[in-house]
Amino acid sequence: MKKAWGGRFTKKTASLVEAFTESISFDQRLYKYDIEGSIAHARMLAQCSLITLSECNAIIKGLRGIHKEIESGTFQFKTEQEDIHMNIESALVERIGDVAKKLHTARSRNDQIALDLRLWMRDQILEIIEAITALQSEFIMQAKTADKHILPGFTHFQHAQPVMAGHYFLAYVEMLERDRTRLVDCRKRVNVSPLGACALAGTTLDIKPEITAKLLDFDSTFENSIDAVSDRDFCLEFASVLAIISVHLSRFCEEWIVWSSQGFDFLDIDDSYCTGSSIMPQKKNPDVLELIRGKCGRVYGNLFSLLTIMKGLPLSYNRDMQEDKEAIFDTSDTIKECLLILKELIKKTALKFENMEKSCEKGFLDATGIADYLVKKGIPFRESHEIVGTMVKKYSGDGKRLQDVSIKDFKKFSPLIDKDIYETIGVKNYIKQYKSPGSTSPASVRKKIRAWERKLQKHITTREKKFV
Ligand code: ARG
Repeated sequence: MKKAWGGRFTKKTASLVEAFTESISFDQRLYKYDIEGSIAHARMLAQCSLITLSECNAIIKGLRGIHKEIESGTFQFKTEQEDIHMNIESALVERIGDVAKKLHTARSRNDQIALDLRLWMRDQILEIIEAITALQSEFIMQAKTADKHILPGFTHFQHAQPVMAGHYFLAYVEMLERDRTRLVDCRKRVNVSPLGACALAGTTLDIKPEITAKLLDFDSTFENSIDAVSDRDFCLEFASVLAIISVHLSRFCEEWIVWSSQGFDFLDIDDSYCTGSSIMPQKKNPDVLELIRGKCGRVYGNLFSLLTIMKGLPLSYNRDMQEDKEAIFDTSDTIKECLLILKELIKKTALKFENMEKSCEKGFLDATGIADYLVKKGIPFRESHEIVGTMVKKYSGDGKRLQDVSIKDFKKFSPLIDKDIYETIGVKNYIKQYKSPGSTSPASVRKKIRAWERKLQKHITTREKKFV
């Protein structure tokens, strides 16, 4: 089969080389963007009088036909045609004849592939933002349902202070919001058109890159043709942002894996979202959560591949860059799937608030509350910390809670302690005392839930306008 670049060659490409250099097996998923880009390019060529209007129309009609053929699954992708660009171009020649050969005027596969990737990524970013918003909505639902419940908050994975269950869920909403805004920001740098940079130096033909940029809804066009074809920062950035998302998901998964274990027994994941053991009949394992946690491996791996592919690459385009695709495709697919399945799993999990509240009775969760109480009585914090420390030392052996200590015994620690201490003490009383902004007080958490509901509604409506 004739190659688009075959003119200067006297020998046929070795089949080993064809198999080694092809990218059609994985870049065929870019077909829609390749065709969209080619249609815009043809229109620009016509507007610049580099092809006639009827040539342009024939090209567009041919490309639309190929699009349909690919969608219907009848299109034959050929390894000999190397990549998505040449597969489509050669099919176009077959369909509409020699006029198809004008399409590649003032264009190289180097700016073409950069364009396809950017168009693809723009859509992925939208999809991922949608999935993030859906997961945030689920966390808010959970926060609302858990409205009145308290769970032990941890530091160093030790019982630390009581927190409202809603506060806990909203922490993940905040985390995901940073992911969302990172994606919105990443999109700004993705949304720059590289088309018109050609191979690396631009062209001697009179083209107008701003026309294609506008037709394809880009915010701007490239400034430097060398940079335009060699830049893959947008891939690195996208893969980094998604790697951070995978960190976030893994943290949540780890928590729920632990919480689902017999030692904690804070939750029960629905049977339909768990799997069993082939040998131990009693087992019900949180495999979905473990897999999401485990997917970090490939997502970080992909980021590392991309960084390594780009490291030390001289300007401008180098074929090494073909290796970027599988990494970003896999990262995007993985994260979308994880976001989706995690949302479903959360929906199908029963939280055992009673057990969480029982667990709050262990570990002197209200100790800092007593230290604060003494501060309000005029004792410097370092001293009050010391006093409560000695209380904990005294009672930690015998399973006593601080709320069970008598006022007589309390006074042995400080004469400033009065009966009003019992209003502060005990997890339920303590949690109501929180005042500081962003803290876990029930009133503040409720307010935040309402604020988040409004904010998410706004995300959804702006997204509908495709204006992320
Ligand atoms: N398949 C190539 C890639 O993915 C497309 C660009 C090839 N350009 C070239 N001059 N060989 O990067």
